[in-house]
Amino acid sequence: MYVCVCHAVTDRDIHEAVDAQGVAHVDELEELCGAGSCCGSCRDVAQELIDARLVQARAYAAA
Ligand code: FES
Repeated sequence: MYVCVCHAVTDRDIHEAVDAQGVAHVDELEELCGAGSCCGSCRDVAQELIDARLVQARAYAAA
């Protein structure tokens, strides 16, 4: 699903940015792909997706 319509960034793109690029904040995502840099309406949802992915990764690493 598209999270950032302005820059055509999907939830999968965000997950990949967290997993492969170590993105932990929406500002880092913005630097990487521009998400959140236009209208800004996606920033809260993008950060929630980043946070959830980080929690998943930490739970996986602890298992
Ligand atoms: S929807 Fe992401 S900057 Fe507009």
